[in-house]
Amino acid sequence: MKTNTVTMTDNRTGAMYELDILDGTRGPSVVDISSFYTQTGMFTYDNGFTSTANCKSEITFIDGDKGELRYRGIEIEELALNHSYLETCYLLLNEKLPNKKELLEFDLELRHRSLVHESLRHLFQAFPAGAHPMATLSSATAALSTFYYDHLEISHEAGYQEMARRIIAKMPTVAAFAYRHSIGAPFIHPDIDRSFSENFLYMLRAYPGGKMHVGPDGEYSIKDIEVKALDTIFTLHADHEQNASTATVRGVASTGAHPYVAISAGISALWGRAHGGANESVIAQLEMIGSVENVDKFIARAKDPDDEFRLMGFGHRVYKNFDPRAKVLKGLQEQLKDELHLDSNLMRIANKIEEIALCDEYFISRKLYPNIDFYSGVILTALGIPKSMFTPVFVIGRTVGWITQWIEYKKDTQTKIARPRQLYMGE
Ligand code: ACO
Repeated sequence: MKTNTVTMTDNRTGAMYELDILDGTRGPSVVDISSFYTQTGMFTYDNGFTSTANCKSEITFIDGDKGELRYRGIEIEELALNHSYLETCYLLLNEKLPNKKELLEFDLELRHRSLVHESLRHLFQAFPAGAHPMATLSSATAALSTFYYDHLEISHEAGYQEMARRIIAKMPTVAAFAYRHSIGAPFIHPDIDRSFSENFLYMLRAYPGGKMHVGPDGEYSIKDIEVKALDTIFTLHADHEQNASTATVRGVASTGAHPYVAISAGISALWGRAHGGANESVIAQLEMIGSVENVDKFIARAKDPDDEFRLMGFGHRVYKNFDPRAKVLKGLQEQLKDELHLDSNLMRIANKIEEIALCDEYFISRKLYPNIDFYSGVILTALGIPKSMFTPVFVIGRTVGWITQWIEYKKDTQTKIARPRQLYMGE
């Protein structure tokens, strides 16, 4: 008998089955069940994929028990604290950090590609006033596939990279247009003299003609510290292994659909409150709680099995320890507290929730820790980004992850259409 196998016995018949164990470079080994049905005539059942690896990947590694996250082998803390978002994008796409010249070229190319076709701009007029920016963003991203239809046929590295740079560069513009349409404000085109993260703030804030308004302190443009904070938030969101939206992107990729349509599907998957939509819900929840005195009441509701109320920004399928991205953001919050006038009431409520939950048996036994969304909202609020744009900010950061995963999928010669089976319980 081979040693690197798992043997299973069907206790009804005594039949034994041997399945190969595959070892990765890090993380748990995996039992190869691809021949399970042929061998046994049975399917496996794994509601929510809690024990299922969906693919082999070299991009991102998470150890949820340790609270560890790495892109291409590099720890998230190192990237968030010592590198820019564009360096992180380059790393994900090229498997190495850029040198100075490579970074400059990458940056310049993204600046040049940030404009969108005028016809796409007209598309926004079709959406009702007040449309949620996530709905508009998902639709407009799908619409981008009509402008770059030839991307469907790409099968070489240079083409993949160009297609990736194009969508990464345009996403902030499309997101900003979605927002400005939602409030009935005229669109601001990207400014080629501004960096990736600064440009996004500029497109949200500027007046027609590109004028920036003056704040209470008399000098209001875009502060370096704001750009740095947003850049860090983008880096922390850049990729996260096979989460719900990325699995969606890969699932759509498996049918041979256009990459930008796959990303549009990823955006839709991200929107839900159990996933990226949680960042918007966290602030809405903190505002609803209203004051520190009410925290106990809401913690009790979160623990009540008969109440659907959940503490937004708490819990994670993979992290059973502190989310390392949340740790970085908690540090950033502290750092920005004074300089960016973070909302002290919201912070007090958030701190109180964290303090109680981390000592409470309900949360301890279920290993429920604050996740990235618990902290991002307070910072985004201080950056003047409205709640409806929190999840679009996540989208902008995650676009590089989705497209990198899409490329990895396309280059894998062993892939099959994603087509799960079911346990039929009907008539
Ligand atoms: N508040 C209260 N109880 C919770 C919470 C929460 N936020 N999260 C999980 N639980 C409880 C569940 O009720 C369940 O309790 P039980 O065992 O008594 O039935 C137990 O913890 C396990 O929860 P599951 O839903 O089975 O865990 P799962 O891994 O499927 O879900 C999820 C993870 C979706 C993130 C969940 O924790 C949640 O809904 N959190 C709030 C939303 C949120 O913050 N989402 C953002 C995640 S990070 C991201 O996507 C970027």
